[in-house]
Amino acid sequence: MADAKLIDGRAFAVGLRHRVAKGVAELVATGGPKPGLATILVGADPASQVYVRSKGKLAAELGMASFDYRLAAETTEAELLALIAKLNGDPAINGILVQLPLPKHIDTSHVLLAVDPAKDVDGFHPINVGRLGSIVSGAPLDFPVPCTPLGVSMLLQDALGSLSGRHAVVIGRSNLVGRPVAQLLLRADCTVTITHSRTRDLPGLCRQADIVVVAIGKREFVRGDWIKPGAAVIDVGINRIVAAAGRTRLVGDAAFAEILPVAGYLTPVPGGVGPMTVACLMFNTLQAARRAAGLKVV
Ligand code: GUN
Repeated sequence: MADAKLIDGRAFAVGLRHRVAKGVAELVATGGPKPGLATILVGADPASQVYVRSKGKLAAELGMASFDYRLAAETTEAELLALIAKLNGDPAINGILVQLPLPKHIDTSHVLLAVDPAKDVDGFHPINVGRLGSIVSGAPLDFPVPCTPLGVSMLLQDALGSLSGRHAVVIGRSNLVGRPVAQLLLRADCTVTITHSRTRDLPGLCRQADIVVVAIGKREFVRGDWIKPGAAVIDVGINRIVAAAGRTRLVGDAAFAEILPVAGYLTPVPGGVGPMTVACLMFNTLQAARRAAGLKVV
């Protein structure tokens, strides 16, 4: 059998970013507001600094206004909540992203609850989590959906067309990826099995899957002989490993070389799901600005 077709998330993300830039330009040309994204970083975690910088930079590139809040690691929860309340009330801000993880002295659930659900471009507010879990099959997503799961579902629908009736095995049950991916696939009329560290016979379940989505943060966890020939494998994992000569390299949660000759479709790491996350954040920000202006989502 031929090798799996690689799903090029980088190329898809470029296309999505172009569509968002066009949407921003159209919104502004018709007298609408310039979409505004506020990013908040508490503390100076180097990886988070890189993420936040890339989000602000891309927002500006796509014609949005970007507001970058860098707070000291010792910022109190009350101070952070006060900033969020100010941004909730500011009409120039359509999206508020609080970079996670937060320092330990701040209760993340209080922070996620404080963000106006209409500005919750991460889709983490309990109201938006509930909407995702209770929508009617086929109904439009007219509320923010978590970015990485949205990217996963866009890539799958682009590669496979209709997902209806397919059996999807989701490995990992996190709030950030596993659960919202499962909800999106259920909405697309997949039969969804959510699996986790206590699941019995995970390889056997995977062998029944038309779609495997893995997000558990364990390098090369899913093996080639777990995969049904022709299945689609979406690898959300990003694990940094030390390779030859002390260099580091990124590998996914799926054993790429073993799966390549078996699967029908496979996302590489890097260049698969990764680039979709920030592109979907921009998409969510545009949608929030359209809703704020009383327009339909695109
Ligand atoms: N930290 C890691 N991933 C994410 C994400 O998608 N959103 C936010 N806000 N923080 C993160």
